[in-house]
Amino acid sequence: MAIPTRRPVTVTVTGAGGQIGYALLFRIASGQLLGPDTPVRLNLLEIPQGLRAAEGTALELIDGAFPLLDSVDVTDSARTAFDGAGVALLVGARPRTAGMERADLLEANAAIFGPQGRAINEHAASEVRILVVGNPANTNALIASSHAPDVPAERFTAMTRLDHNRAVAQLAIKAEVPVTSVDGVIVWGNHSATQYPDVSHATVDGRPAREIVDERWLEEVFVPTVARRGAEIIQVRGASSAASAANAAIDHVYDWVNGTGDRFTSAGVTTGGANAEAAASYGLPEGLICSLPVRSSGGEWQIVTDLEADPVARAHIEASVAELLDEREAVRALGHLPG
Ligand code: NAD
Ligand code: LMR
Repeated sequence: MAIPTRRPVTVTVTGAGGQIGYALLFRIASGQLLGPDTPVRLNLLEIPQGLRAAEGTALELIDGAFPLLDSVDVTDSARTAFDGAGVALLVGARPRTAGMERADLLEANAAIFGPQGRAINEHAASEVRILVVGNPANTNALIASSHAPDVPAERFTAMTRLDHNRAVAQLAIKAEVPVTSVDGVIVWGNHSATQYPDVSHATVDGRPAREIVDERWLEEVFVPTVARRGAEIIQVRGASSAASAANAAIDHVYDWVNGTGDRFTSAGVTTGGANAEAAASYGLPEGLICSLPVRSSGGEWQIVTDLEADPVARAHIEASVAELLDEREAVRALGHLPG
């Protein structure tokens, strides 16, 4: 293990006593989130009922004797948890159970994200980067961002990396290649059943994916398998995805902080602020958090532009954006968005 050379970064994890928290925290402590040179201070936020579980996890983190773990603290105060945060992982929210759509969680979870956005605005470090995992992730990220006027909107992101990874894995299985042979997959839209996993620009060992897999498989198998994978996991496992979600959170933040190079990936990012022009080039309205093709360099996501969407893709993307607009109206009606 290399000797840490940088100053510690405070990483705040909400819902730390839950399933994803348990799969995530040890990987952060081992350096997989920020890299092998960056020590971390873990701030774990829970509601009072979840504190004991988070405290138990904190004891185990200490027992891991992780060289990069500078400290671990557990609290039910958002103000304390976000104090000085350089990275905030907003995981804490209710997961759906069998038969629910993620949008059914709007009412249950939306109220969590306004106060947390405010606490981030007031107490986090100026360079804070936020990933919202708790569902419905895109709209929760929008709520949090709208309560943090001093934090650039581009710093609030929603996790669609799990969908992206699922799409890469399904294509690799079909093409009978390792996942590393697949590049250029895009997930557009909402982290919900309306998302559109798109292989139009994907390659398999440098060859266009569309020369390898047929349209029928894409529409009838690939798209529904990826878009409904969360529900499949809930049905088969009896609980919502956790280790794969934690893995995707690690991938998202690692790429954000360390850069993607020429490769691109998918992330839920704002269609406004510095992204407005790039989002408009895809016909997207401002003021949403929408999954798009992105690259990262210098610690910032950039939307990849100039990727042609064919009529099938456009219809799927429009449907998913319409759902995001509906969710935005629903949370506005519930009083969770200003204006
Ligand atoms: P879980 O029920 O196991 O854990 C959630 C934890 O959050 C609980 O310990 C709970 O006490 C805590 N919590 C609730 N409200 C809180 C608040 N206001 N502040 C801090 N903590 C709070 O659930 P889980 O399986 O860990 O899933 C968490 C969320 O992540 C769910 O909403 C789930 O749907 C979502 N999820 C998203 C993705 C994605 O790809 N975006 C993938 C998987 C799960
Ligand atoms: C997932 O995609 O696995 C999560 O968002 C959980 C869910 O409700 O589908």
